[in-house]
Amino acid sequence: MESIYQYYSQGIWKKSESGETVEIQSPYLKKTIGFVQALTQEEVDQCIQGAKEAQKSWAKKSIYERAHYLQAWADELLKMKEELATTVMQEVGKAYQDAVKEVERTVDLIRYTVDEAIHSRGQSLNGENFPGGSRSKLAVVERVPLGVILAISPFNYPVNLAAAKLAPALITGNSVIFKPATQGSISGIKMIEALAKTNLPAGVLNLVTGKGSVIGDYLVEHKDISMVTFTGGTVTGERIAQKAKMIPLVMELGGKDPAIVCEDANLKLASKQIVSGAYSYSGQRCTAIKRVLVHDSVADELLSLIKLEVEKLSVGSPEENATIVPLIDQQAADFVQGLIDDALQKGATLVLGGERKDNLIYPTILDHVTKEMRIAWEEPFGPVLPIIRISSLEEGIDIANASEYGLQASVFTQNIDQALTIARKLETGSVQINGRTERGPDHFPFIGVKKSGLGIQGVRRSIDSMTREKVIVLNINE
Ligand code: NAP
Ligand code: G3P
Repeated sequence: MESIYQYYSQGIWKKSESGETVEIQSPYLKKTIGFVQALTQEEVDQCIQGAKEAQKSWAKKSIYERAHYLQAWADELLKMKEELATTVMQEVGKAYQDAVKEVERTVDLIRYTVDEAIHSRGQSLNGENFPGGSRSKLAVVERVPLGVILAISPFNYPVNLAAAKLAPALITGNSVIFKPATQGSISGIKMIEALAKTNLPAGVLNLVTGKGSVIGDYLVEHKDISMVTFTGGTVTGERIAQKAKMIPLVMELGGKDPAIVCEDANLKLASKQIVSGAYSYSGQRCTAIKRVLVHDSVADELLSLIKLEVEKLSVGSPEENATIVPLIDQQAADFVQGLIDDALQKGATLVLGGERKDNLIYPTILDHVTKEMRIAWEEPFGPVLPIIRISSLEEGIDIANASEYGLQASVFTQNIDQALTIARKLETGSVQINGRTERGPDHFPFIGVKKSGLGIQGVRRSIDSMTREKVIVLNINE
């Protein structure tokens, strides 16, 4: 019988009173790998009340005391690297080697976050520096925790994108309500098993499970939630933004990252970076390259190079470290297939792929994609790459900026002035010059604009977003 996992609250693992669980199916094993608790609203309430109470004493601890727990967490994660990576692989279909890298990246992220937080700085302001001001006023500005932080994470990086929220929240003295993606809950539970081993004070970290469509609104609307940090789809993000009270929100959402390939680009480099960026983990990355805008004059040559690279991609099981693996579920595969079918019906050229076996979509390249096709604008979250041919850079920039998304973009050119000129015109959070779009390394600011997000992640920015400034003014009576 597959394991029935429990939720974590008040420092103990519990079964829900609901008596209900959510079945977790592996996207490639096609079998049940476990069950997680479907919490009731009352249980969510208890978790939040406990977190609110525990936060008071947690914030009073020194940062070095808090750092001790997080460093021990990182050590525990390293000890269980293989077990956790296997769980990630089985639960979200990520290639084993990529799952191992995700755990290692998370250990580094936790340790870097601790170090960055310990070396945070405050500020002092002297009254005399403002016209008419006086030396008798001295402001001391420090950063203080927000309170109870709701951290909601997506399926595709069930460990790294969760810890990227939990670590900065905890080190700065907040308590946390952690809601993992349902397909990713078991990975989240095992990650928290590692944290529980550090004897973290009860109530500081609470893991709640259950479908977001059932408990999500209740979590987000709860009066004792001080901040929401969310990573997931834009539709979900917009719902959260509507439901949340007047509290800080940080949201990393969907993307439609373009790769703009100029006439003078190093096409061999561009083709390798584009294929890696578009097809890693079957394109199930928010920062995947999801459209190529290539100058007509080099389009045929680039396309033949891209085709050669795509034909090298391994297709199959995550247990064999395939790049192209089954998508997270049938619904996701149906959606991607729908985009491909729509493009072909509207005249796109199928250069490669187009086949499907259950929820495995073979790597697909569509050429001569036009603005009338859905795939020019919608986020597939699958292994399909639309090629849009442009006659000028201005046209490419216009098409890039016409997207409702604005996560990242790649620009391929050997002219640095041209690269920077284009980069400055792109309406995105980040621009990669001669490289694939990607979030890492995790200390870089990670920004989504337009429908790609709100606020900023990245270690330093996450620490700042989970704290606020507090000003104490000394009135000096000389
Ligand atoms: P999703 O369906 O939006 O789910 C994300 C999280 O939100 C899950 O934990 C989900 O729980 C929860 N949720 C669902 N409905 C909710 C509600 N009403 N209130 C509160 N939470 C709710 O996204 P996903 O399928 O996991 O991930 C794929 C999407 O996320 C893609 O669009 C991708 O681009 C985006 N993404 C963005 C980034 C980034 O950094 N920008 C990174 C990764 C993924 P359940 O699982 O129980 O539904
Ligand atoms: O979609 C998750 C996003 O954070 C991808 O991370 O480093 O693979 O670009 P990365």
